[in-house]
Amino acid sequence: MEKSVLITGASSGIGACAAELFSQNGYRVFAGYRSDTDGSKLAQIANVTPVKVDVTVVEEIEQAIAAVSTELEECGLYAIINNAGLTYTAPFEYADEEKMRHVMDVNVWGIVRLTQGCIPLLKRFNEQNSVKSRVINVTSWAGIMGQPFNGAYNASKFALVGLTEAMYYDLGLLGIHVVSASPGVTKTRLLARTTDASQAYESMPEEGKEFYKKYIDKLDSISASANSSSALATPEKIAKGLFNLVERKKPGLKQDLATDARLMNLLRRLLPFSWSSRMFKRMYKL
Ligand SMILES: NC(=O)c1ccc[n+]([C@@H]2O[C@H](COP(=O)([O-])OP(=O)(O)OC[C@H]3O[C@@H](n4cnc5c(N)ncnc54)[C@H](OP(=O)(O)O)[C@@H]3O)[C@@H](O)[C@H]2O)c1
Repeated sequence: MEKSVLITGASSGIGACAAELFSQNGYRVFAGYRSDTDGSKLAQIANVTPVKVDVTVVEEIEQAIAAVSTELEECGLYAIINNAGLTYTAPFEYADEEKMRHVMDVNVWGIVRLTQGCIPLLKRFNEQNSVKSRVINVTSWAGIMGQPFNGAYNASKFALVGLTEAMYYDLGLLGIHVVSASPGVTKTRLLARTTDASQAYESMPEEGKEFYKKYIDKLDSISASANSSSALATPEKIAKGLFNLVERKKPGLKQDLATDARLMNLLRRLLPFSWSSRMFKRMYKL
C-alpha cells in the first residue's frame, strides 16, 4: 500500500516541517504552496511533489486535485492535512471586514473546498485498503477560547472546530477518519503575525491610535517574549504529532499536540469563563 498525503500551506512553519518529515518516512507528499520560489524549494525534497494551491482560488484547487489524481492513478489518497492558515490581529472597533472575511475564507472555506474536492480520492483509497483514509484539520485552542484583538482568528477557528466535529460524522459514513489537531502556541511566522501590532495600527485614525497605543505596545511585548521563549513548541514537534496521527490506525476526533493545548482544553471544560477572562485581562493589561 502506497501512503500519500496532501498538505496545504507547506511553504513554511508546521506545514513545511510536516512535508519534510512525511517524505523522510516513505510517504508520497503533495505539498501545497503559493509562490513559485516556495514551489522550487519544495521540489528539491525527495518524494515531494509541489502543488500550487491558494485555498481561496477555486480553479487552483481544481487543478491541484486533478494533478494529484493523475499522479496517484488508481491508488487514491490516504490523508489530507488542512494546515494552511493565517491570522489578522486588530481591535474589533477598527477591524477591517475584508481582512476578517479573508481569514474565514482561508481558515474555513478553503478547507471545505479542498476536502470536498478530494472525497473521491479518499474513497478510492478506502476501496482498496483496510486502513482507512483521513482528513486532519489543524485547529487551535483559539477555537475554544476567545482572546483580545484576535476576533477574526477566533471566529475562524471556532467555526473550524464545529465544522470538523460535523465532518467527523458525515465523512465517517464514507469510512474516512476526521481529526481536529490542535498544535498549541508554536514558534512559526504565524505566531509573530498574531501579535504584529503594526497590522492593527496602520489603518487606525489618530483617536484610535491614541486609545489603543498602550494595548498595542503590550501586544508587542507579548510577541517579543513569546518569540524568545524556549518553552514554546517547535514546528518540528507539531509535525511529529501530525505524523503520529496520520500513522494511527483509528485516530480519535480531538487531538491536542502540545501541553498548552491540553491545558487550555482542560481549563475551558473545568473552569468558568470568569477564570479565563481574568487571565487574559491580566496578560493584556485590559
Ligand atoms: N503557530 C501557532 O502558534 C499555531 C497555533 C495553533 C494553530 N496553528 C495553525 O497551524 C497552521 C499552520 O500555521 P503555522 O503556524 O505553521 O504558520 P505559517 O508558518 O505562517 O504557515 C502558514 C501556511 O499557510 C499558508 N497559507 C496562507 N494563506 C494561504 C492561502 N490562501 N492558500 C494556501 N495557503 C495559504 C502559508 O503560505 P504562504 O507562505 O504562501 O503565505 C503558509 O504555508 C495554521 O492553520 C494555524 O492556524 C498555529
